[in-house]
Amino acid sequence: MTGATKLAETLVREHDLPDEGLAALIETRDGESRRILGEAAGALAREIYGRKVFIRGLIEFTNYCKNDCLYCGIRRGNRKAERYRLAEGEILGCCEEGYRLGFRTFVLQGGEDPYFTDGRLCAVTAAIRERFPDCAITLSCGERSRESYRRLKEAGADRYLLRHETASKAHYQKLHPPEMSWDNRVQCLFTLRELGYQVGCGMMVGSPYQKTEDLVADLRFIQKLRPHMVGIGPFLAHKDTPFRGQENGTVELTLYLLSIIRLMNPRVLLPATTALGTAMAGGREEGILHGANVIMPNLSPPSARDKYMLYDNKLRSGAEAAENIAALRENLRKIGYEIAVDRGDSLVEG
Ligand code: 5AD
Repeated sequence: MTGATKLAETLVREHDLPDEGLAALIETRDGESRRILGEAAGALAREIYGRKVFIRGLIEFTNYCKNDCLYCGIRRGNRKAERYRLAEGEILGCCEEGYRLGFRTFVLQGGEDPYFTDGRLCAVTAAIRERFPDCAITLSCGERSRESYRRLKEAGADRYLLRHETASKAHYQKLHPPEMSWDNRVQCLFTLRELGYQVGCGMMVGSPYQKTEDLVADLRFIQKLRPHMVGIGPFLAHKDTPFRGQENGTVELTLYLLSIIRLMNPRVLLPATTALGTAMAGGREEGILHGANVIMPNLSPPSARDKYMLYDNKLRSGAEAAENIAALRENLRKIGYEIAVDRGDSLVEG
């Protein structure tokens, strides 16, 4: 039995390890530790959530962004990105279509677009809330003030996704321009939680300069925040960003971390992300088998999909597209899972 095997078994049993244990588990992962963690995490997700996968309809409502994150294809510095924003009626149209397809959660994701003032975003949120009282509304549009988050909640938002991107401040500074602040990002997450949102954090796997200790810091951060959801996917380089030509994150490490996160946070919602599906055909199904339990198909209008390019070759057709939910259902059936027509609330309390 190797060191990693022993550590994997301890993690399965105790749902935690000391920092050195987590670091060694990540560094020295071998076929056996991968198998142990993957099987145990898949079994744990099934024990808690059954063989059901929650779906969320992702509406990418604007690709304007005032930020200049070095990894991201819609950073303001990318002059080649063709910018768009959806009108309120178009967003409602996406929800309409989504509802018909069986979605009961809508995720409004966008860049940090100053056009979407509190007034405008609250109006859209309130309109969705009124038209779809049985649906959850998730917002994912970056760092805003406490007052803004409060108003959006009041307008009807239930959940907020804001990846922390990396729990290490030094690493954060290597991925972002100097005007962006790790402290503010982390503060936003705690504020959202305090305001009563169900929150999602998350990080990219294999982003440039990421070290094992940064991933251990991510795992500790997740334990401290106790988010309802954790979204992770491999870093994938975009050709029109400063990180062009950087090595991509791997599917293998992403699956391994999905399993570790499930084992450390049994009730957390864990999406098998688009980036995972982009990095490998069948990647999202592998994610489900390794402990993930959420998939977020794309509900954006087709013209928007081509322009919301966070990284090269981002999946936007096939089972990734919300309208092809039958294909997704079939892919999941083949691995013994089914789609839940449900808001899919987190079992994490508080
Ligand atoms: N590769 C992978 N993920 C990316 N994101 C942004 N750019 C990339 C990239 N190049 C992720 C970030 C962001 C989420 C919406 O997409 O983690 O929070």
